[in-house]
Amino acid sequence: MTEQRRDSFTSSFGVTMAMVGSAVGLGNIWRFPYMMGENGGGAFILIYLVAALLLSMPIMICEFVIGRRSQVNAVQSFSRLAPGTRWNLTGILAVLTVSIILSFYSVIGGWSINYFIKSLTFSLVSTPDADYAGIFAQSVGSVWSPLFYTALFYGLTALIVSFGIKNGVEKCSRVMMPVLFVLIVAIAVRSMTLPGAAAGIKYIFKPDFSQVTGRTVASAMGQAFFSLSVGVGTIITYASYVSRKENILKCSARTVISDTLFAVIAGCAIMPAVFAFGYNPGEGPGLVFITLPGLFANMSFGGIIAVVFFFALLLAALSSSISMIEVIVSFLTQKFHISRRKAIAFISVYALAVAALCSLSQGPLADVKVMGKDILSFLDYISATFMMTLGAILFVIFVGWKLGREVFVSEMTSEGSVRVPSWLLKVIFFIIKFIAPPVIIGIIAFSIIG
Ligand code: PHE
Repeated sequence: MTEQRRDSFTSSFGVTMAMVGSAVGLGNIWRFPYMMGENGGGAFILIYLVAALLLSMPIMICEFVIGRRSQVNAVQSFSRLAPGTRWNLTGILAVLTVSIILSFYSVIGGWSINYFIKSLTFSLVSTPDADYAGIFAQSVGSVWSPLFYTALFYGLTALIVSFGIKNGVEKCSRVMMPVLFVLIVAIAVRSMTLPGAAAGIKYIFKPDFSQVTGRTVASAMGQAFFSLSVGVGTIITYASYVSRKENILKCSARTVISDTLFAVIAGCAIMPAVFAFGYNPGEGPGLVFITLPGLFANMSFGGIIAVVFFFALLLAALSSSISMIEVIVSFLTQKFHISRRKAIAFISVYALAVAALCSLSQGPLADVKVMGKDILSFLDYISATFMMTLGAILFVIFVGWKLGREVFVSEMTSEGSVRVPSWLLKVIFFIIKFIAPPVIIGIIAFSIIG
């Protein structure tokens, strides 16, 4: 308690940048474009927008309410707001989920560092018809190099977070996010002015509903959760460091808008170029690491664009991974009264062990399958599709049914000092209480059956 009184966000801008930093990540630049490519372009975006606005944003608001009200980490917030109940298990689920995501995220963050370094020498894009699938397989499939880059990425994350909220998370996010924005817009402009880019732009903005299935809807909703970092306690944690005067609705709306804008701009950076050079938009997870280098090799100034792109990818990944590790750090430091460094050292033992397994699952351990998937894909699937969704549903039920309307309104209006139209409060609370839970259960059902 004393620790977070001293250490908290210092400005509204800092809070927003940290929240946007958490939201904007590999989910926007790596996952969103290929999901869109696999799921019918513009139609996927439309469904995604509806899900982000109608589901993710209310969940984000619930997390904000829980964290800001309790002023404590994602586990103890539940014991504080609902003493003597089992609700703290929800927080434990969140910590567990976020540590799994952190582990496999570090592996992909490591790939980003690897590709950034490769792009620095310009060797990556010097031969337009190089075997990029082979280069990728070799980069991620060997033993030591991907392990090294994974550890490096994790180390950078831990380093930033060891400086705390004000001096670590806030300072870095304030610089990283605007830089990231400029970089990604620059690439989008380059991509959209290529001859033949129009087909890609049409693909993004002209919805083709013929490809939409139940699965598309479930994927779009899952993506809206992952991309906005909801359901795993990151927002509860950040909100616990936020002043009581902060306007929750404004902060959440800014985050949702920025994150969606980033995803669409990332789509505009990638798809027009993919179409201009005749690549396949449905390439899947390899889109960023296999298709893009080939694309850059064929572009004028491609070498420089590659450096900029992989640097942007790295920044985006880092600003998200710091929000994940902070969930666990804040829990351990506050619950066990240990220093941030000790907490980080403790987390590193298991996070790095799981990350190492994920990294090796792309090479030597590729044959170890769980439910038909390699370890990394399995952990991605189980955490992002299932555990996150479960966390999200528990958060909305907690606010809608346990905390109740009065607490909700008092937090949303900062005890009456912030004006929010009462009809809007009613609509949001109605969604939280009656709409979100059954719809989210529907998504879980989809992901299990489908
Ligand atoms: N939102 C992040 C992204 O888009 C991922 C993330 C998930 C971050 C969960 C924090 C918690 O990449």
